[in-house]
Amino acid sequence: MRRKLAAGNWKMNGTQTALAELSALDGTSSPTVEVLICPPATLLHAAKGVAGDVAIGAQDCHAAASGAHTGDLSAPMLADAGATYVITGHSERRADHGESDAIVAAKSQAVWDAGLTAIVCIGESLEQRDSGKTLTVIGTQLANSVPDGATGANLVVAYEPIWAIGTGKVPTIHQIGEVHQFLRAELVSRFGNDIAGAIRLLYGGSVKPANAAEIFAVKDVDGALVGGASLKASDFGPIIAALTKA
Ligand code: 13P
Repeated sequence: MRRKLAAGNWKMNGTQTALAELSALDGTSSPTVEVLICPPATLLHAAKGVAGDVAIGAQDCHAAASGAHTGDLSAPMLADAGATYVITGHSERRADHGESDAIVAAKSQAVWDAGLTAIVCIGESLEQRDSGKTLTVIGTQLANSVPDGATGANLVVAYEPIWAIGTGKVPTIHQIGEVHQFLRAELVSRFGNDIAGAIRLLYGGSVKPANAAEIFAVKDVDGALVGGASLKASDFGPIIAALTKA
């Protein structure tokens, strides 16, 4: 049985006062649902101190373990600050920082080398969806962004259609199911049944308390990567509850 994952990505939001929202989530994880918050890196260490049973993750890392990379943070540093997860390949980083699949794979390998779990993000643009290229695009991203050596412990895959992020638009239940079953099948053919069956697949893009239950009922959806609705415990709490019930 895969342990489900309710993951919050705070993006570039939050100063010390936001830690109260995190500490309010203490006690929400359970044997069947893991809760994770990825605050900005400035809050990682303090977040670890107030998180209780909530796991802490980072939103990006450099591919190298150390060196002359002004302003960057390595996976061992993030581990040292209390992170156990690192998001790699978020579409905002692919767009804002020109991160290719090869860069995402190198970062994901660095996450693994530091003993952490990578949440590798993939997803199509609206134009790619409208021209019928969704499965081809995400199949290529998956193949080239995930290094060899994936396991259920070191890899989570997040499907985040770019057009659904922060827009209030959500794919249909059928579309989410189609992509997640495709991703599972791709993982099975590359890593085999046992490993692929242990890797968690998250949906991300405008997940809210109002739509969480129907998304979590979709086969092969093992949780969510939530942006805006993870910033307040009063929004994220009901999403965690919906996942716990699913
Ligand atoms: P929203 O939930 O704000 O649409 O963001 C999704 C996302 O990008 C999470 O990584």
